[in-house]
Amino acid sequence: MSKHESKPRALTSGTTSGTTSGGGGGLRGRLRVPGDKSISHRALMLGALALGETEIHGLLEGEDVLRTASAMRQLGGETDKGADGIWRARGRGNGGLAEAADVLDLGNAGTGTRLLMGLVTPYPMTTFFTGDASLRSRPMARVTDPLQLMGARFVTRANGRPPLAVIGTSQPLPITYKLPVASAQVKSAILLAGLNTPGITTVIEPEATRDHTELMLRGFGVDVKVEETPEGRASSITGQVELTGRKIIVPGDPSSASFPIVAALILPGSEIVIENVGLNPHRIGLIETLLEMGAAIEILNARIEAGEKVGDLKVKHSMLKGVTVPAARAPSMIDEYPILAVAASFAEGETKMLGLGELRVKESDRLGAMARGLAACGVSVEEGPDWLAVKGNGKRPKGGAHIAVNLDHRPAMSFLVLGMAAEKPVSIDDGSPIDTSFPGFAELINGLGGSIAAVKP
Ligand code: S3P
Repeated sequence: MSKHESKPRALTSGTTSGTTSGGGGGLRGRLRVPGDKSISHRALMLGALALGETEIHGLLEGEDVLRTASAMRQLGGETDKGADGIWRARGRGNGGLAEAADVLDLGNAGTGTRLLMGLVTPYPMTTFFTGDASLRSRPMARVTDPLQLMGARFVTRANGRPPLAVIGTSQPLPITYKLPVASAQVKSAILLAGLNTPGITTVIEPEATRDHTELMLRGFGVDVKVEETPEGRASSITGQVELTGRKIIVPGDPSSASFPIVAALILPGSEIVIENVGLNPHRIGLIETLLEMGAAIEILNARIEAGEKVGDLKVKHSMLKGVTVPAARAPSMIDEYPILAVAASFAEGETKMLGLGELRVKESDRLGAMARGLAACGVSVEEGPDWLAVKGNGKRPKGGAHIAVNLDHRPAMSFLVLGMAAEKPVSIDDGSPIDTSFPGFAELINGLGGSIAAVKP
């Protein structure tokens, strides 16, 4: 046994150290994945700002979202989990944030950081942000550029990186801003800054990204207009209107569902139903792609809940074939490329994924991480500046590698899924980042018959 194949021990709670997977049989049963991360961040921010009480059902209690909850408390909002398991938030109304007495530490959360930078812009106060080594390496100019036009000033490390300070303004200006990168975080930061800004703030997106902010703002009583223009989709909000508390139901996160989906597709004998998955049209590019690859995925019981589309997904083991994934699809599956690359390793033929430049600046360089990790698992893979090509032969890859996850939850879960179905076990150096988005991941997969275990140090 090599040093990377040290004996697995039973998992108790969390995956806080090295983790391994291998020798998995098929997955069977019904499951639910934790709440949507994007919607959970937004629910806490708007709930802890709005007047009156906001009830949040199904909030993701992942590390990233809990950081947003505590940041909102530092900014004067109230939010907590009740004894009944329901989260409640209460704010002082639009315009009612207060200066935080200390630095906001957002941990690993890029979404929390960027959206909050927008939220605090139209206030005459200074807010300090920091986070873990991954967050401190992420580019922030994409949000500081437009927020500066609205009147904020910033002190940052080189290249706009955190720790950073947002020096807000008492006289914010509404802007019309065309996004240079397809990013729901940047769009949302600007719209949230527009909340306490007089007049109409507009963001134009050349490629439409997830619209959870727009849908949720409407639910809080804010006037949000969305129209298609020759330059792209334009979303406008009228600022300085009051937000009133409401009930929010957070659906299961489609990005988290992607891991059991692909695990079921590649493990022979699998048949699972994932209940209550968010199916916002701007989030389902992975399902579209897997269906093109020949996956047996059925959407059951599609419905609208609290303004968001949801449904149940029935997934069976399938023989997949390679496809080309166009760049235009990237915004609707931006977080799903690591697990798609795993699915592609089991497919027959080449899967070429285009338009992946943004993967270089996620929690880690996911394009490089997947290319290196898959190659170490014996997969034929080629990496370009903004594309990835994975060539499968319809058989299971060799596996047997030890992967460094660089504080990034999605490659971590992707390689554990690969390891369950590969010839030899795969291990990762650190399972703890998984708790940022998918607490209980290993236990949930193992409950369906999966084979993920902590590694003895
Ligand atoms: C998110 C937007 C995406 C995504 C991230 C969550 C959001 O980031 O990768 O996990 O909640 O708005 P970008 O805006 O950088 O594309």
